[in-house]
Amino acid sequence: MNQTSSPDLFSPVTKYGIEFSNAIVMAPMTRSRALGSVPNDLMATYYQQRAGAGLIITEGNSPSPNGIGYARTPGIYSDEQIEGWKKVTNAVHAKGGKIFSQLMHVGRVSHSANMPAGAKILAPSAIQAAGDMWTDSQGLQLKEKPQAMTSADIKATIAEFARAAIHAVEAGFDGVELHGANGYLLEQFLNPHTNQRTDTYGGSVENRSRFALEVTEAVANAIGKNKVGMRLSPYNVFNDMGLYPEIAETYAYLAEELSKQDILYLHVIDYAARTSDEGLTLLKSIRRTFSNLLILNGGYSRERAEQVLHNGEADMVSFGTPFIANPDLHYRLKHGIALQESDPNTFYTPDSKGYTDYTFA
Ligand SMILES: Cc1cc2nc3c(=O)[nH]c(=O)nc-3n(C[C@H](O)[C@H](O)[C@H](O)COP(=O)(O)O)c2cc1C
Repeated sequence: MNQTSSPDLFSPVTKYGIEFSNAIVMAPMTRSRALGSVPNDLMATYYQQRAGAGLIITEGNSPSPNGIGYARTPGIYSDEQIEGWKKVTNAVHAKGGKIFSQLMHVGRVSHSANMPAGAKILAPSAIQAAGDMWTDSQGLQLKEKPQAMTSADIKATIAEFARAAIHAVEAGFDGVELHGANGYLLEQFLNPHTNQRTDTYGGSVENRSRFALEVTEAVANAIGKNKVGMRLSPYNVFNDMGLYPEIAETYAYLAEELSKQDILYLHVIDYAARTSDEGLTLLKSIRRTFSNLLILNGGYSRERAEQVLHNGEADMVSFGTPFIANPDLHYRLKHGIALQESDPNTFYTPDSKGYTDYTFA
């Protein structure tokens, strides 16, 4: 072995004493199999099948009844949910895998028909997201207008994240990823189109970043900074987010502050950023500023993943859709075995079809 050889996709990655068996990460993917928002045996089988990844990040998992927006998505706020997740973490650990839970609060991307009784649709400002979403009881429905969060709501929501992180550790997760991407609650605070607050959580870049940074701090204090990652998606307009002039400034600031907080990793969905010079410059500056692990995601093949690792642009690469139809993705990539195609019609259906029935090479 040549000591000067570049890191590759199939070698272990170690940070803060955690060893990931390879640099291949399974990206978080909502799959809507959590009937009643409780994780089950079918989900344990699905994640166990994919335990060859160096790190699995679960589907979005809500820290609060208020954070459930989609049909059949899980939470981690009740004892029953913690018990359900234990089945998943035990199944993955039995195969030698590592698993983080993605804590996802949808904020305004929601409909009350998908939420537990008494839950509230909360967001930084009362601005409705365009578009509709699936509900099991009423079919397609427009997303509903959220309530602007009060100071008390903000405090309570930060506390929910910290409690959920403690629950995640109790359930056996190796850590948590905070979902700061794709237009959900944390990003709704970052973006001035969805955050029109006039208090200390709105206005300047620092103020708009405050909620995400306070959530991170609370979670790191609760379970340890070495167990915390953050997902970001600069320039991505998914969920009616819209571009704004200070995007680069906002994400450069976040990278700097998250680096000061010394959390384990940043997970950046980079495909939107890669379409402009400004975005490419931002990605480079995030890499320079953030001193711990950087995971990149978005349309990666083995070749492109190896390229960013060799160039020192990232430490790990996550794959989403390729993991749906290829439970043994790490093995197929390593041995150059053709990948199977996934069927989008079964991405969010409730049973094992298109979920646990994809074959191994
Ligand atoms: C079915 C499906 C569900 C997804 N759910 C989530 C999610 O819960 N949380 C999240 O951060 N991203 C989610 N994503 C985005 C993926 O994590 C990933 O960013 C995206 O698929 C691009 O990576 P890929 O080109 O390797 O598929 C989802 C993607 C798919 C296809």
